Amino acid sequence: MVVKKVAVIGGGTMGSGIALTAATHGIHAVIVDINEDQLARATDYHTKQLARSVSKERITQEEASVATAHLSYVSAMADASDADWAVEAATENIDIKKSIFAQMSETFNKDVVLATNTSSISITDLASIIPDAADRVIGMHFFNPVPVMKLVEVIKGKETSSKTTASTLELAEQMGKIPVPANDRAGFVSNRVLMPMINEAFHAWADGVAEPEDIDSIMKLGCAFPMGPLRLADYIGLDVCKDIMMVMYNGLEENPKYLPSAKLIELVDQGYFGDKSGRGVYKYDKG
Ligand code: NAI
Repeated sequence: MVVKKVAVIGGGTMGSGIALTAATHGIHAVIVDINEDQLARATDYHTKQLARSVSKERITQEEASVATAHLSYVSAMADASDADWAVEAATENIDIKKSIFAQMSETFNKDVVLATNTSSISITDLASIIPDAADRVIGMHFFNPVPVMKLVEVIKGKETSSKTTASTLELAEQMGKIPVPANDRAGFVSNRVLMPMINEAFHAWADGVAEPEDIDSIMKLGCAFPMGPLRLADYIGLDVCKDIMMVMYNGLEENPKYLPSAKLIELVDQGYFGDKSGRGVYKYDKG
């Protein structure tokens, strides 16, 4: 099945990246976000990214114009109801996602795949809110920045049909990605391995082992990481990191090793979310 139009629910860091990637691969993408400011930010991000790609000669001006024409932005899901694929990329919170999935199953046609970009929440649990459509629910976990990162972690829930899985693999390839399967346990593979390491970097900082810059330099130079764990946490979003740790804590027998560090919680409570808020572990020039 060739997908022609994708509805992306949630137009933040990930949703805007997913929509841009779809649009540059010839797929119409409509972003649905309840926050009008976020829709404006997503539009601005797309305009700047496409202009940058043209100036770096990665795409032609004509290709950028075609991609722009493939993008649209709405605040009501009903205005995206003609999509033939839907992927949710809203806030990492099970209650928010369940209410969005209930709405998605009402809004889209009965053969539309209902994918989620969740980083850590159980697909089976999410699908339980819509038992009649659970066979169409699947995890399609893109990585940040979506236009650059090749991987899509594909997670089947208990009820996910083989048809849903096959068409998800196909769509990932249509978007120029490499899909890799993982099983439905909180955090899947990527965050099960990555997040405890990021969390440990916060513990090391709080314990006075080293300053953030030095923790990041040590991990970059000593482990060949392209980005240190604290810088990466800012890039991902400190709120997102905290939410993912909590989902793993709750989903993996409340093992205390998955509790977010006090330092991470403290920064989130202060409204320091990382790059997107201009301040996290580090300070950023908003421009
Ligand atoms: P974000 O905070 O940048 O964006 C979330 C968006 O969802 C916001 O614009 C918000 O207005 C919107 N939203 C909330 N409730 C909504 C609703 N009912 N209907 C429509 N929109 C709604 O978050 P981000 O970073 O884009 O994360 C989104 C999802 O992607 C989360 O599940 C996260 O775990 C996952 N993810 C995040 C990655 C990252 O590096 N930030 C990487 C891979 C996955």
